[in-house]
Amino acid sequence: MLSLLLPAMLAVQAMALMEVHVPEQPVVALHGRDATLNCSFSLATPFNLSDLTIFWQLTDTKRSVHGYREGHDQLADQAESFANRTSLFPAQLGLGNTSLLLRRVVVADEGSYTCFVRVQDYGSAALLLQVAAPYSKPIVTLEPESNLRPGDEVALTCVAYGGYPQADVVWQDGGGRNLTDNITNSVVANEEGLFTMTSVLTVVLEPNSTYSCRLINPLLGEESYASVTITGQNIAFPPVALWVTVGLAVCLLVLLIALAAVCRRKIKESCEEARREAMTLLKS
Ligand SMILES: *[C@@H]1O[C@H](CO)[C@@H](O)[C@H](O)[C@H]1NC(C)=O
Ligand SMILES: *[C@@H]1O[C@H](CO)[C@@H](O)[C@H](O)[C@H]1NC(C)=O
Ligand SMILES: *[C@@H]1O[C@H](CO)[C@@H](O)[C@H](O)[C@H]1NC(C)=O
Ligand SMILES: *[C@@H]1O[C@H](CO)[C@@H](O)[C@H](O)[C@H]1NC(C)=O
Ligand SMILES: *[C@@H]1O[C@H](CO)[C@@H](O)[C@H](O)[C@H]1NC(C)=O
Ligand SMILES: *[C@@H]1O[C@H](CO)[C@@H](O)[C@H](O)[C@H]1NC(C)=O
Ligand SMILES: *[C@@H]1O[C@H](CO)[C@@H](O)[C@H](O)[C@H]1NC(C)=O
Repeated sequence: MLSLLLPAMLAVQAMALMEVHVPEQPVVALHGRDATLNCSFSLATPFNLSDLTIFWQLTDTKRSVHGYREGHDQLADQAESFANRTSLFPAQLGLGNTSLLLRRVVVADEGSYTCFVRVQDYGSAALLLQVAAPYSKPIVTLEPESNLRPGDEVALTCVAYGGYPQADVVWQDGGGRNLTDNITNSVVANEEGLFTMTSVLTVVLEPNSTYSCRLINPLLGEESYASVTITGQNIAFPPVALWVTVGLAVCLLVLLIALAAVCRRKIKESCEEARREAMTLLKS
């Protein structure tokens, strides 16, 4: 039995997979920047570079990202989306460092990458690339914009663009309390895959209130923030309208009193005249 197993075990050992190391945590790369996808192996004995084969590919689609064989880059079957954007670190290859430099990262680069290495033995390992882009400072607008009264329902719209991935949106009032009612979030991607995020909060207006909109990019832990304060100025309820109304009412009242006075005198005069005429008639 043992005589049968032993050669088999030795054969397995001879074909032992080489240990290839990649980051366990996803590699986060900024959109538009260069990223290094770390990959390395360790070999007890020195090796000849012309015996080294490296092959980076997309784990899911098996499309070629970058190849290296017999001392040269092999890019004939490279996927077009990676053209002119990849390189190894030639000075590092002899040290077992087969990391890949990926230039000008785009959202579409996101995914799993497998690093294959062969000298005599071979090995492979996969890492996850995640792309991140910070959101612009949001802009908060109010709808309707004027003639607001306390108690009115208003829609506050918060828009931020150019970010990735989707952000968590948190609305807070002036006291830092989370507003969770009636929030509608929507996301639109541009041709680069970057998002414009729109969040609409519907609130019943209170005087002197502050509403802030905060976007948190889950990959960058980065926040962008804007707030709007609704003061008496937006609320056109008492000052101007009220005084104009009161002013008009006072004018009207004065006018009516004057008219009444004039009327009364007129009536009195005409009565007097009638009486005088009657007297004259009686006397004659
Ligand atoms: C790549 O490896 C170097 C050295 O081991 C390390 O400093 C760096 O943080 C690694 N980068 C990533 C994205 O893991
Ligand atoms: C490496 O391999 C090439 C081709 O097989 C050979 O010409 C060269 O002498 C080797 N170099 C060393 C240092 O072994
Ligand atoms: C890559 O670079 C070469 C030479 O600079 C150029 O001819 C080719 O159009 C480039 N390809 C892409 C996809 O940019
Ligand atoms: C491999 O080389 C790159 C470029 O010099 C470097 O950033 C990285 O840290 C190296 N990785 C290891 C594991 O030494
Ligand atoms: C508001 O929500 C954010 C995100 O969900 C959370 O981190 C924060 O602790 C909350 N604040 C309060 C006061 O509930
Ligand atoms: C949400 O909005 C609707 C219509 O705008 C309104 O009827 C409802 O009372 C609001 N709910 C809350 C919790 O504010
Ligand atoms: C609103 O705020 C202003 C300035 O902070 C203050 O003078 C005013 O009294 C406040 N009005 C109300 C109704 O709270």
